[in-house]
Amino acid sequence: MLKIVVCVSGGGTNLQAIIDGVAQGAITNTQIVKVISNNQGAYALTRARNAGIQAVCIAPKEYADREAFNQAFLQEIDQAQPDLIVLAGFLVKIPVQLIRSYGNRIINIHPSLLPSFCGTGYYGLKVHEAALARGVKITGATVHFVDEGMDTGPIIMQKAVAVKEGDTPEILQKRVMEEAEWLLLPWCINLIACGKVKVENGQVLVSE
Ligand code: GRF
Repeated sequence: MLKIVVCVSGGGTNLQAIIDGVAQGAITNTQIVKVISNNQGAYALTRARNAGIQAVCIAPKEYADREAFNQAFLQEIDQAQPDLIVLAGFLVKIPVQLIRSYGNRIINIHPSLLPSFCGTGYYGLKVHEAALARGVKITGATVHFVDEGMDTGPIIMQKAVAVKEGDTPEILQKRVMEEAEWLLLPWCINLIACGKVKVENGQVLVSE
């Protein structure tokens, strides 16, 4: 059984896709053991509690400094003893210590085809604003392992989504979620739970 902790900051539609995937059998052999948010008001916490999952908030502003927050965050993760940490719209810089302790056991979803529109400042709607400003005709989503860089870890899977004339950032964000993110993230978690994902020389290999 793959024990996962999901970290969230906002609405939690990706979390919901994981919850539904586990409930409906699209994600096998997996248990969501805890949901962690940095934001007390995140609707994702309600989604977790509605599904009977332990949901906790650890807000940086409640700690004296970043180091104290990082320690509390690490402790919260370690207590759950997860096999995999899933960042599903988590807007907090992950402490390097966590990345080192959980090498190739942290995944993130990013709402573009990496390496486009990523790095500092590219989150949420800003990613879609940048894609529209550049005039790309295809965008999408990427699930990748988290390394010490920003959006630079080994790519597990990507899905393309068409940009259409008249798209606004909001419309494009919705299409990328519906056509890519909500499918891709559960799919990747299931592959990992089935032991089908390996990282070799910084590249992901997915077996049949
Ligand atoms: C998603 O677009 C995800 O790719 C990004 O943040 C957003 C989170 O949305 N990293 P939600 O909270 O899952 O609805």
